[in-house]
Amino acid sequence: MRYPETYSASIEQPEAFWRDKASWIDWFEAPETILSRRADGHHDWFPDGRLNTADLALDAQVRAGRGDQLALIHDSPVTGTIQRFTYAELTARVAHFAGALRDKGVGPGDRVILYMPMIPEAVIGMLACARLGAIHSVVFGGFAAHELAVRIDDAKPRVLLTASCGIEVDRVIAYKPLVDAALEESVHQPEACIVCARPQANAELQAGRDFDWAGLEAAGQAVEPVPVRATDPLYILYTSGTTGKPKGVVRDNGGHAVAMRYSMAVVYDASPGDVFWAASDVGWVVGHSYIVYGPLITGCTTILYEGKPVKTPDAGAFWRVCAEHGVNVLFTAPTAFRAVRKEDPEAEELSRYDIRCLKRILLAGERLDPTTHAWLSDKTGLPILDHWWQTETGWAICCNPVGIEKLPTQPGSAGVPTPGFDVAILDASGQPANPGEQGQVAVRLPLPPGCLTTIWGDDARFRHAYLDPVPGYYYSGDGGYRDAQGNVFIMGRMDDVINVAGHRLSTGEMEEVVAAHPAVAECCVIGVRDELRGQVPVGLVLLKDGATIAADDLEDALVEMVRQRIGAVACFQRAEIVERLPKTRSGKILRRVLRDIADGEDYAVPSTIDDPGILEDIEKRLHS
Ligand code: COA
Ligand code: AMP
Repeated sequence: MRYPETYSASIEQPEAFWRDKASWIDWFEAPETILSRRADGHHDWFPDGRLNTADLALDAQVRAGRGDQLALIHDSPVTGTIQRFTYAELTARVAHFAGALRDKGVGPGDRVILYMPMIPEAVIGMLACARLGAIHSVVFGGFAAHELAVRIDDAKPRVLLTASCGIEVDRVIAYKPLVDAALEESVHQPEACIVCARPQANAELQAGRDFDWAGLEAAGQAVEPVPVRATDPLYILYTSGTTGKPKGVVRDNGGHAVAMRYSMAVVYDASPGDVFWAASDVGWVVGHSYIVYGPLITGCTTILYEGKPVKTPDAGAFWRVCAEHGVNVLFTAPTAFRAVRKEDPEAEELSRYDIRCLKRILLAGERLDPTTHAWLSDKTGLPILDHWWQTETGWAICCNPVGIEKLPTQPGSAGVPTPGFDVAILDASGQPANPGEQGQVAVRLPLPPGCLTTIWGDDARFRHAYLDPVPGYYYSGDGGYRDAQGNVFIMGRMDDVINVAGHRLSTGEMEEVVAAHPAVAECCVIGVRDELRGQVPVGLVLLKDGATIAADDLEDALVEMVRQRIGAVACFQRAEIVERLPKTRSGKILRRVLRDIADGEDYAVPSTIDDPGILEDIEKRLHS
């Protein structure tokens, strides 16, 4: 079947469509019911099926004869090491570590938080939770202690997994002091904290609470995968919303496994035995879906890369990894290649490596700008494929469905709707927009398998944020349009979420931090276009009457506050003092206008502004 027929089948007969895809994976009890609707309107995929996600990612692969095939390659230029694990070896490590977790009381439904660098133990920890039917929640290592504390209090984990340090290029970042600070701040206290010791840093262990990973794993009895219901949660992944409080996106086991297997085939055209590399971090959804679960459930070899696209040691790093491990499919964020292009515009490094193994490069996480698209295509001669998705969906909403048929690519477009996603562009009144007309991008319910099922502990927020804005649809928060051929163009967020170097951050959260400075009366943080990172946050600050602080001192203080409270990853480096902030009559800050000014777009002066000089002043400051 070609794309149009496949897509129509997925939308018109979703149950028949997904019943077939469900048969691609090994169930303990195959589902009879494919889709059911609860009284509260939520949908459940495969509600009577039973499975175990770690079984699919490990044991099922060994059963299929892939025990001696490489499952995981840890390539770490920052430590100068490469470690390889076959499916049989990874299964054994996970089974024993699951035994260690069980010894610490972890069972089905318990939460385990991971605050880990990009080391094999991060993958082992996630899969060990899945094996026990426990729910993992990985917190990105670039977040500060406070962010970790917020997540500990929300997820209430029984156990916390960490390592003695992470390594940022040549800087060792001790993790244990951050964990200790988070645990001092959080109300909830996990019963145990398991620390993976790395040679680059020692971690002080608190007797009775902290335990050495290697010792526990060695003593752990191997555990068999525990069957869980398809609808039981596999993980919680916190993501930025429009308020300071992150949203705990909940993903189930069954729908997720089916979606992972299907997307590997259709979106990436990856087959068992292929080497798949998602150059991201396990702390982000890309890491969950396409470093860990997608490739392993498909029987691929996955790469866990502890390094950067540049500086570890040079702009040839990505090409080196592809050549050395025979990577067939590469997936990363456009910003990674913008960093490479900046350092090596002629791609001279590429000529040092044989990357004929590479069949295609996929990009997501932010808009793939046509310049980066053209550069990559020109230098590699490979298909360069944009695809659009979100933490909430867990897999691509729009893509070039290369596993079905490769469609012509339209630079600037994220592709066509992926089978399963009934994508609609809606105008302000919730009606379908015409081709070429910008609107909000929504997905008609039910969402396909693998998408979020709720917000952890806050179903009302789930409804409010995603289902209530347009009844019958999932509200994505992105704006965009569709051309006459059906290609979807995603133009950016319609809310206060920004994307910095492919990292999703909330300006609302940064505003809470900036507003806490004693000299600040009012502030607004906006995302300003940046050549390397796509966007960077900039604070516009109104001082309290009588405040005398110098602009540079205030900026330094605010930069440090955001680093301490949210983390270096926020890249908050600039604050401008302004005389006034533009507002609506009801007193709301006119963010849309500010965003347009920041992006250098034409803007209309709103009628609520009596003095257009305010906007000119801000424009001058932002572009000085
Ligand atoms: N632990 C601790 N600190 C971290 C961290 C981690 N896991 N990840 C990032 N940081 C820190 C960095 O050290 C840096 O700190 P600094 O301000 O003290 O230098 C800060 O957070 C910003 O990090 P980053 O945005 O990564 O900047 P960079 O200059 O180190 O690298 C890029 C720039 C473009 C090379 C890098 O952002 C990149 O590779 N992006 C790809 C994004 C990606 O993979 N996104 C995932 C979605 S697909
Ligand atoms: P995250 O939840 O971190 O994956 O971020 C999701 C957000 O990133 C989306 O809502 C978009 O705003 C943006 N995004 C992801 N992929 C793309 C893409 N291919 N094109 C444009 N924006 C994207």
